[in-house]
Order: sequence, then structure tokens, then C-alpha cells
Amino acid sequence: MIEIDFRHALSSAIGYRHGLTQRAMERHFRKHQPALARMMRSQGKPGYAFLALPDDRRLVAQVKRFAKKQKELNWKSIVVLGMGGSALGTLALQEALLNPFAPGPRLFVVDNVDPTAFARLMEHLELPRTLFLVVSKSGTTVEPMALYGIVRDALEKESPQGWRKQLVFITDPKEGLLRTLAKKEGIETFPIPPKVGGRFSVLSSAGLLPAALAGVDIAQLMKGAAAMREKIRSLKGEENPALLLAALQHLLDRKGKAITVMMPYSSLLFRTGDWYRQLLAESLGKSRKVGPTPIAGLGATDQHSQVQLYMEGPNNKWIIFLQVEQPEKDLAGGSQLPKGLDYLKGISLGRIMEALHSGTSRALAEAKRPSITLRLERLDALHLGALIMMLECQVALLGECYGVNAFDQPGVERGKALAKQALMEPEETLNPKK
Ligand code: PA5
Repeated sequence: MIEIDFRHALSSAIGYRHGLTQRAMERHFRKHQPALARMMRSQGKPGYAFLALPDDRRLVAQVKRFAKKQKELNWKSIVVLGMGGSALGTLALQEALLNPFAPGPRLFVVDNVDPTAFARLMEHLELPRTLFLVVSKSGTTVEPMALYGIVRDALEKESPQGWRKQLVFITDPKEGLLRTLAKKEGIETFPIPPKVGGRFSVLSSAGLLPAALAGVDIAQLMKGAAAMREKIRSLKGEENPALLLAALQHLLDRKGKAITVMMPYSSLLFRTGDWYRQLLAESLGKSRKVGPTPIAGLGATDQHSQVQLYMEGPNNKWIIFLQVEQPEKDLAGGSQLPKGLDYLKGISLGRIMEALHSGTSRALAEAKRPSITLRLERLDALHLGALIMMLECQVALLGECYGVNAFDQPGVERGKALAKQALMEPEETLNPKK
């Protein structure tokens, strides 16, 4: 399903100074296998509840029923208002699994409060044909709440009777302002389980509902995630994807590779790299002392932008390549290419992508820079579900390896609190020039 090729991270390929020995890896597996086993038994505990999400058949059925009903209403646009974990997973699913040129409602994810960008979107939307999903687990995050306020005014003005039908809240099942508001106004809601952290919530209704409304096969997504979880539950040592990925991250970090670059050789997986960027940073950047710095890259694009630095700059990074073995579509051509470009004749884009990835990975190894490749057989809901679960399990286990709580985010909360405080102060204090 997903192969992890880690040859280019080993000392046999890149030397002892920068690469990992099989012995060090095995020691790491032995040390952390018990923590992984404990983690797999902790589905009911705060944070670890993401592990149980693929079993929620009732939720999948409920989301699918709701999506079917909404299809009859013929929405032209679905707009998600959310931040961080309430948006990045949806963006990843959208980019990987939906064809933006296919007929059907268009999905927009708004995860910023840039006034011009949002005003442009509002002007573009045909308001009566738009469904808005407000996604906020806490129901108090400044950005989605401010956007909701604007949307609600616009909807109420346009349709004083029917505006409620154009809103859905995805939030905590009991707590928070959104929940209270939903009860008061009679607005449709879907839950984000309280024990699932925001950045681990893509397989809850936070990601499933927008994805299903836009046409993603969410049952397959959950099937892939469940299959991967079972693999992680049952396999040992380097056969276990989460244990292996956690060992690579932790040991390479200890060898001075403090920067983790996720670089898919697929434009459809860039947002997945962006989602992972949050997962790694917010989960492990803790206690003022640890935390790998994640970077989201893109192959082959970044070969002409970043790879020079990765190849010859400071040797303080390791690269996770993502590769899709069988692209859904492939194009070959080049029958009329001039002499000198003969090597491209009849060669498909998929094959070129493969050669570019292999060239970069081999050149990095020659320069003694560690990299691994996560090879997905295909890019579909099943494989993406598996990839999501694999990376979530890796990061949860890394919490144990680094000795930090992977599920809190005190730094983010502090920023949220100070922003709220600043909004309560007179405007001159925020911007003395005004
Ligand atoms: O991972 C997290 O907890 C955060 O990134 C949150 O998802 C983000 O801050 C948004 O929070 P909320 O869904 O409560 O609006």
C-alpha cells in the first residue's frame, strides 16, 4: 500500500557521520515498541482518540446522508471557515482527491482573515447558492468567528427567513460558543470529538463533511486509515511504519538534521506536506528545547528553487519524498521533438517525474544528505487515508520519543489569548500611526 524506502538514510549509503546504522535503528525500535503498544491501547484517552476515528461507521453514514440531501439543493459553492487543524486537512483532501475542473460544487477553504481576499471571494459567490461550514473545535478562535460574523450578516440580509439552512457548524459536541449558538438558532451541527486534537481531526467530521460534500469517497478514506492502523498495531521493528518513521525522525534529528523537508513529487500532495508541517511543528515544538523544523517542498518544482541549498548548504536537513507509483492519468508525447531531445521522445510525464525524483534522491545521497521515499501505489482516498493515519501515529509516538505532550499547544493558546486582548483595546494601541 505504502512502501517506505529508507536506504538513503542509512550509513551504508551516506556514511556514519550522517547516516543511521541498522544497530541504532534496532535499539530505537526496542526502546519505543512498548510505548507504541501502549499508544495503540489508548484510543479512549485524550489526544489518542484519533486512533478510533476510522471505526465511526455511524458518523460516515450520517455524513453521507447529509451530503446526499445537500446534493439535491444543488449548491454551487461550499465554503469552509476554519484555522489550523480545522482547515489544513480539508485542504489536503481537496487537492489530492478532487478534480477542480469537474462539474459539481466548488470547495473554498478560508483559513485567513485577509480582508481583500475574503471580500473578493464574497463578491464572487452566488450567495443564495452557497453553503458555509464553520469549523472550530473550540468555537472561540478569532479568525473563523470573525468570518462567520460577516457571513451571517450577509446571509440574513439576503434571506431573512432561510439563512439558517446555509450554515453548518462543526464543533465540540457540548462546549463552546458555536455549540450554544447552534442550539439557540437551530443550526445544523456535526461534532469534533473532544478527545481528538485539532491537528489530528481530519478524519472526524472536520475533514469528512467538507470532503463528502465536494465528492470525496470518505468510506474509502476511513478504510485506508483503519488498515494502516491495524498494520501499526500488529507489526514489529522496521516492518512497523510508525515505529520506523519515528526512529528515522528522532535519530536523524539527534545527528543534527533539525530540519525535516516533506517534498512530494506530485502537485496533488503539496497540501498534504503542508498539513504534515503543522502536525510536526505544533505537536513536537515544546518545552523551549525540542522540535524539528518542518518545511513543505514540491518536486520537481523545487529542484529549480530549493534543492541547491539541500544539496550543498548546511547538512542540517533530511528529506521525506512522497511518490505516486501509478498516476491516475499519464501523458506521453514528444514525437516531434528535435534532435538533441531524442531521450524525451515518447516518454510519459509520469516516467519523467520518476526520473527526476530518483536523480534528486541519488544526488543527495552522493552528497551525504539523508532522504527517504514514501511510495504510494496510487493516489486515491484509500491510500491517502492510510498515509494520514501513518503520519499521525508517527507524530503521536514521537511525542514519547522527544518526551513532550504531542497533543497540547500552549504557545498557540497564548497567541490566541493576546490577540483577543488586543482586540478589546482601543485601535490606536494596536496601530499607533492610525
Ligand atoms: O491543532 C490545533 O489544536 C490547532 O491548530 C487548532 O486546530 C486551531 O488553532 C483551530 O482551533 P479551533 O478548531 O478550536 O478553531
